[in-house]
Amino acid sequence: MIENRATTARDGASDPPRFGPPLMARLDALAAFTEVPGQLTRRYLTPAHLAAMRQVQAWMEEAGMRVRVDAVCNVLGRYEGRKAGAPALMLGSHIDSVVDAGKYDGNLGVLAAIAAVGELAGRGERLDHAIEVVAFGEEEGIRFPTHLLTSSALACTLEPAIFDVRDREGVSVREALANAGGDADAYRSCACERDGVAAYLELHIEQGPVLHDKGHAAAVVTAIDGAIRLIVTLHGFAGHAGTVPMGFRRDALAAAAEMIVAIERLGGSHADLVATVGRMDARPGAPNVIPGRVEFTVDMRSPHDAVRHRAQRELLALLRDIATRRRIEIETQIYQEIPATALDPGITTAVREAIAACGMDVLELSSGAGHDAMMMAKLCPAGMIFVRCKEGISHNPAEQITAADADVAVRVLLDTVRRLDRRFAAGA
Ligand code: GLV
Ligand code: MN
Ligand code: MN
Repeated sequence: MIENRATTARDGASDPPRFGPPLMARLDALAAFTEVPGQLTRRYLTPAHLAAMRQVQAWMEEAGMRVRVDAVCNVLGRYEGRKAGAPALMLGSHIDSVVDAGKYDGNLGVLAAIAAVGELAGRGERLDHAIEVVAFGEEEGIRFPTHLLTSSALACTLEPAIFDVRDREGVSVREALANAGGDADAYRSCACERDGVAAYLELHIEQGPVLHDKGHAAAVVTAIDGAIRLIVTLHGFAGHAGTVPMGFRRDALAAAAEMIVAIERLGGSHADLVATVGRMDARPGAPNVIPGRVEFTVDMRSPHDAVRHRAQRELLALLRDIATRRRIEIETQIYQEIPATALDPGITTAVREAIAACGMDVLELSSGAGHDAMMMAKLCPAGMIFVRCKEGISHNPAEQITAADADVAVRVLLDTVRRLDRRFAAGA
């Protein structure tokens, strides 16, 4: 059991915070691996991602793990257990980022897991189960129209057609992997054996304001919202901005503008629904040319699949209506759909107990953000721990956690892992 001299029942602070300061220093150091100097942008399979993978590998080795990089560029470190052949407890998160990101989304879960293993190794402590720490490469879906590609490879749910999708420069996932030393054709070798992984546990910043508002450092996650992502392509007709009268136009960008406002209204039509247009590209993109072609993304989420399905039907109908009225051709491509995920009751119980053992009141949350745990839940029992981030700000360079909360993160993670080790050893 972890010793704790908590200052309050909610923040779990201990004195001195042994794990927090070194973990914060590593989070800062990892943030230096970026495509864009002065901000953190680290998309899948870019040189910045590959450099971050090498750094993570070095830290895993230093913590006593044997490390391998799989065919889709996940970094996996293994700390052997006492029982040969026992399934692993897998811990992890992702190290890719959005554009102009914060330092903690994904990275905290990976580096906290390495710190937890480093603590076990430093004490010469082996659990019955091996621990595998995984640094997933593609969670954010920023470079390619993908999402959770690398965890789907582990969870045996990857559809190989995904290797043929291309980024905006025309590079396919297959080509990017070949350049990075990976191998799309070997994706089956990434799949975990079903009896090789006992559980997957992901620690992540909350990315919302509840922990900050309620003054809690950590929470147990019970479920993750389902999501759909699509690309909408509009074909109008490009023409001269000075000579074509307004009534003659088939302006793809004006149609997109009307659609985006309708999508925002749809997202606001139900308390358990959100809808976002996060990216748009208008061509040819000149001040004096009527836009002929527009592409934009839609991301729609709900904790209830029935609500999301209904909203999806409404979305497609309203896009079609606007397109027809404006004489615009429309294509919609759903490139990701993932149902709402209930996390494993046995793991959530262990997280609850660990939070209480670290001296904190237990708070339960569901996640509006997507996580690799959604994909891993298709393979094995999966659970999550949330850690407070300042004012709930995330996907923003202002994302922030405290060293005290980083300390709590490692202690709750370690305690949960020890509990899971006992629980699965007992066959519970
Ligand atoms: C991942 O950050 C997501 O989009 O939920
Ligand atoms: Mn994210
Ligand atoms: Mn994340």
